[in-house]
Amino acid sequence: MDSSRVIVALDTPEAGDALALARRLDPRLCRVKVGKELFTAAGPAVVEGLRRLGFEVFLDLKFHDIPNTVAGACRAAAALGVWMVNVHASGGGAMMRAAREALAAAPKPPLLIGVTVLTSLGDEELAEIGFAGNAQANVERLARLAAASGLDGVVCSARECPQLRATLGPAFVTVTPGIRLPGDDKGDQARVVTPADAVRLGAHYLVIGRPVTRSPDPVATLQSIARSLEGGKASP
Ligand code: C5P
Repeated sequence: MDSSRVIVALDTPEAGDALALARRLDPRLCRVKVGKELFTAAGPAVVEGLRRLGFEVFLDLKFHDIPNTVAGACRAAAALGVWMVNVHASGGGAMMRAAREALAAAPKPPLLIGVTVLTSLGDEELAEIGFAGNAQANVERLARLAAASGLDGVVCSARECPQLRATLGPAFVTVTPGIRLPGDDKGDQARVVTPADAVRLGAHYLVIGRPVTRSPDPVATLQSIARSLEGGKASP
């Protein structure tokens, strides 16, 4: 089964709800993501609780600050034993290098991932905040900077994977949200792809929230995702 690439987004403000859902999931079938809402409400204890249940945790706090502060935050994340952590690539090369160096000293460094352009930002809004060029051009520029700064990969849309793979190579990790199962409601995600298509496009990890968390049977849904990935062409 190829479901180790599935990361379930535990988007809830309640540690109790997150842990209850995690107890229904199988750490052999997925990893879990703790984002700003859950971490702000529940703190490091929820990460610890999820790890005790056997899950590898992606701490999705998208750090963006001066290099010294981001380095400290990354050290603190590594001390929590998380598997993946992320920073905004637009924080700059010095900030990303500081994050990389801070993690290098950790006994088991988490994967360090860059956020390029938030998918909520359209071309007009990008211009408004002073970014030249369209979203695609900015994603590619920031992904190159992330790679040059020693990051392991980026968060991006699955549709951007082929281009990033061509320019940055197959080992550069791509983490892709915006995944929906065939026949699912899209929710507020404008552009969605199925798990199998995301893997075919070269995605290494798939962030999947509501299709699993709001499923009446999250375990069955995860198993069906795993089946849909069997035989799919996988990246390393
Ligand atoms: O419920 P759904 O599958 O849409 O959840 C997707 C998850 O990925 C959410 O936690 C969301 O915050 C996150 N995400 C995203 N788009 C990005 C970055 C992160 O949807 N560009």
